Amino acid sequence: MVKRIGVLTSGGDAPGMNAAIRAVVRVANSANIEVYGIYDGYRGLVEGYIEPLTRSDVSDILDRGGTILGSARLPEFKDEKVQKAGIHQLKKRGIEALVVIGGDGSYRGALALSQAGINCIGLPGTIDNDISSTDFTIGFDTALHTVVEAVDKLRDTSSSHHRCSVVEVMGNRCGDLALWAGIACGAEIVVTAQTGFEETEVLERLKEFDVVKKKRHAIVIISEKITDVDAFAKKVSLNTGFSGRATVLGHVQRGGSPTPQDRVLASRMGEKAVDLLIQGIGGQCVGIKDNQIISVPIEEALDIPRSSRKKLQQLFDRLV
Ligand code: ADP
Ligand code: F6P
Repeated sequence: MVKRIGVLTSGGDAPGMNAAIRAVVRVANSANIEVYGIYDGYRGLVEGYIEPLTRSDVSDILDRGGTILGSARLPEFKDEKVQKAGIHQLKKRGIEALVVIGGDGSYRGALALSQAGINCIGLPGTIDNDISSTDFTIGFDTALHTVVEAVDKLRDTSSSHHRCSVVEVMGNRCGDLALWAGIACGAEIVVTAQTGFEETEVLERLKEFDVVKKKRHAIVIISEKITDVDAFAKKVSLNTGFSGRATVLGHVQRGGSPTPQDRVLASRMGEKAVDLLIQGIGGQCVGIKDNQIISVPIEEALDIPRSSRKKLQQLFDRLV
């Protein structure tokens, strides 16, 4: 049976990553498996920034945002030679397998290592909820809470001033944060890569909210990387009865204490990762489907097309 495993966090950090690290250490230790923390993602792996992680090292981290291991992006890790350098660092320390907590990019690294003989299990750690093999990623729920809190506040001031708040949220081409927040906040309009963006049509709809529906405010939630929200807010002021104000929520969405939902999800997923490694399984990623913790081959997971979220989008449209 595996005796020594490593854990790393990679890509954009997400609240709940610490809860996952803690679960990996505690579950592994209770099965007499030693855990090593690899700092700063694949960069730390290649550079050998690797230290033992004990039960007490992961005390008091369950409620902390960010990741105690640090995270990084290392584009060079696509190169086989760089991967081999990482494998060398693991072998030197007798680390036989790895838990990789990150998004789909990090999964690709984990797949490469698994194919090279190091069993890796991927855990979905990203606020974007953009991994199709799982209903929810670690961090999404916390980020959604942050967005909802901010939009609720923006609605207060927008109503007072007959304004339209144009709010840009993260998501990296996945519209889930925008759509879920749109439903949770009762936004007037949600724009995502999935809905597309027809500027004139959105402006016409805003006029309707003002003139026909007599709304005192309007909230437009827009996924990042679709349009310049500052420029769009100016067009709202010029073309509708609302004055437009743009807010880019930015990296505030990545921070904060994880919600109980994210803590429990991360703990369940961390447990599953260790159980798989104990069984000698690698090259898989963990997910949650219909509230059951599952695992699928990483290769398969990366191939699953993104859901169009048709039902949720229809619900949003019916609620406006
Ligand atoms: P995320 O994991 O959140 O999707 P990135 O896409 O930035 O974030 O990927 C994180 C890291 O994973 C990259 O910086 C790189 O080190 C590694 N990675 C990404 N794509 C690959 C790949 N095709 N092969 C090997 N490693 C990869
Ligand atoms: O993947 C998480 C994420 O926060 C995306 O939503 C966003 O596009 C990106 O990372 C931002 O990355 P950075 O931290 O490099 O600015």
